Amino acid sequence: MAANRGNGIDTSTVMFGVFGDPVAHSKSPLMLNRAFEVTGANAAYAAFHIRPGTLRDAVNGIRALGFRGVNVTIPHKLEVVDYLDEIDEHARAIGAVNTIVNDQGRLKGYNTDGIGYVRSLKEEAGFSIAGQTVMLLGAGGAARGIGYALAKEGAARIIIANRTASKAEELAAYLSEGTDTEGIGLEAVATRIDGVNLVVNTTKIGMHPKIEECPIAPELIHPGMLVSDIVYNPLETRFLREAKARGAAVHGGLGMFIYQGAYAFEYWTGQPAPAEAMREIVERSLTEAAL
Ligand code: ATR
Repeated sequence: MAANRGNGIDTSTVMFGVFGDPVAHSKSPLMLNRAFEVTGANAAYAAFHIRPGTLRDAVNGIRALGFRGVNVTIPHKLEVVDYLDEIDEHARAIGAVNTIVNDQGRLKGYNTDGIGYVRSLKEEAGFSIAGQTVMLLGAGGAARGIGYALAKEGAARIIIANRTASKAEELAAYLSEGTDTEGIGLEAVATRIDGVNLVVNTTKIGMHPKIEECPIAPELIHPGMLVSDIVYNPLETRFLREAKARGAAVHGGLGMFIYQGAYAFEYWTGQPAPAEAMREIVERSLTEAAL
């Protein structure tokens, strides 16, 4: 019988994947398979629905099956830290891992979310972070990674505003080394927003299907600030639409997703990621889904 290469996967194919729950809507397989295709790598990337209680076995499976790398997403980014052999210093400081590299059975965890965000902010919005006053909306895992990266880049002041004020205060205390920080409740945003240069929605507010939600009252947005949203589905959230209407600059969430994946690709392969091709395929898929 003639050899059938089928989908191109063969005995030399290097395997990758994403572990999450839910994971069915992840754009990572689309994005990373495109990156492998463009760079000519014999590699394949799939999504794995890893339910609570099975993460340890799944991580051991990376070793047993010889996967080269895995992305980890909600809700496993914190727990996975316990099952790895080594954690990169930034991922340890953030307390969360979204990328695992398997070096001959030794698993090392990284966090590419914060650096992905910063790269996107610089390249797409041309924003230079040093000396700026930033307000983060939300105090969860995403806020932690982004806050850490912004503090490292020299933000002068970081205000964290969260529905649960105590969590904002905790994150503010954690980021306070070298940066002036404050944690507040969402109701106090109005009293602090003057003088803010960058406001970032780090929550899921405004994400499909609840696309009419906005993390703060639109009247609080002022021109002269950059309004940034980590939500990328829809590509333009209501928060960004309201910001545009008020003369503020805007920065969408797609770039953070692309660059966190680009950094993961770079850790796994040692090669520069084809970020534009990755962006193009994800953007097309999101645009088609919206039609
Ligand atoms: P992630 O890892 O994606 O950041 P998370 O750690 O669960 O997820 O954090 C979610 C963040 O969004 C929290 O800051 C949460 O506020 P609380 O700490 O008060 O729970 C915030 N959040 C989620 N839904 C929200 C809503 N409807 N209104 C206001 N804040 C919300």
